[in-house]
Amino acid sequence: MEEELMQIKNSAVSMIIDAPNQKELEEIKLQFLGRSGKLTLTLKEITKVPVEKRSEIGKLANEVKRTIEKTLEEKYFTLKLKFSSLRKQNVDTTAPGIKPAIGHLHPMTQVLYEVVDVFKSIGFQAADGPEIETDYYNFEALNIPKDHPARDTQMTLYLDTRNSKVNPGEIILRTQTSTMQGRVMEKVKPPVRVIVPGKNFRYEQVDSSHGFEFWQVEGFMVDTNVKLTDLFGTIEYVLQKLMGKDVKLKFTTTNFPFVEPGVDTYIQCSICKGKGCSFCKQSGWSEIMPAGMIHPNVLKAAGYDSQRVSGFAFAIGLSRLVTLRYQMNDLRLLTNPDLRILEQF
Ligand code: DAH
Repeated sequence: MEEELMQIKNSAVSMIIDAPNQKELEEIKLQFLGRSGKLTLTLKEITKVPVEKRSEIGKLANEVKRTIEKTLEEKYFTLKLKFSSLRKQNVDTTAPGIKPAIGHLHPMTQVLYEVVDVFKSIGFQAADGPEIETDYYNFEALNIPKDHPARDTQMTLYLDTRNSKVNPGEIILRTQTSTMQGRVMEKVKPPVRVIVPGKNFRYEQVDSSHGFEFWQVEGFMVDTNVKLTDLFGTIEYVLQKLMGKDVKLKFTTTNFPFVEPGVDTYIQCSICKGKGCSFCKQSGWSEIMPAGMIHPNVLKAAGYDSQRVSGFAFAIGLSRLVTLRYQMNDLRLLTNPDLRILEQF
């Protein structure tokens, strides 16, 4: 009988705990404590227990009954609490749920990942470099000595070095990701194929196509026998992958001290379809990828033999690429935290 009582207690308690609602709780109560409930019937049998054990069994039976009643009471209370608090909040427990808002990658990051994938597929590796840079890597190593007029075009932001051992003007915010040409080439022997995505800073007049803080993806390749046609082929391949097969490009000559010859790549403005708008300054074209053959002085400064190896370099204006890709007409939208903008991508 002892065993039977313990079994009744255990199964009653576990059923009560699992009961999902009041109705089922009532049923469980009847099943154990009702007139023909399991416990009630067992208690009736108590007269059959030998007299000397009867008071002990009686005590146990009472305890089992109390435990069941107490567990029932507690469960009633928790169920009531749950439903009344839901009702108080006006929660309709039958309504379908609300999907939680899930964030996503910024359009800039999405395009950047794509750019990295395209270059990876043609054998380039991605490298990262410092945004706070020395004058040497930003200018000198790139064939731009101290008195070179090309420095004026870079609108450089200088860091205050007054309380340091560094000479004034030596530490700057990098104005171009080309800084990484010297840094990588000093460490890696040719052949190299590297891209460097990163942020640059200039004291610029901000407008729809210029930011004081803007992204570029620098790239360069050095090997034996790298030719200008390799550069054109690479630019065309990459921009077709990123902007679609029928992207319209045009090349012009340009001057950057670290390349010879220098090439500028223009893409037909996708915002006005070449008709002319404020983004492309009414020209129908937007500068997207300046490039050129790496100047022998740059190769030499990095310790390369400029007689034996040659290379090309380029920089994709990433902020501009993203705006053109999504026809955003103003690259300031890329740093605008308004979710109504970001949720469109
Ligand atoms: N660093 C240059 C700038 O931001 C862009 C550039 C031009 C990068 C020609 C290159 C290049 O690698 O070959 O003004």
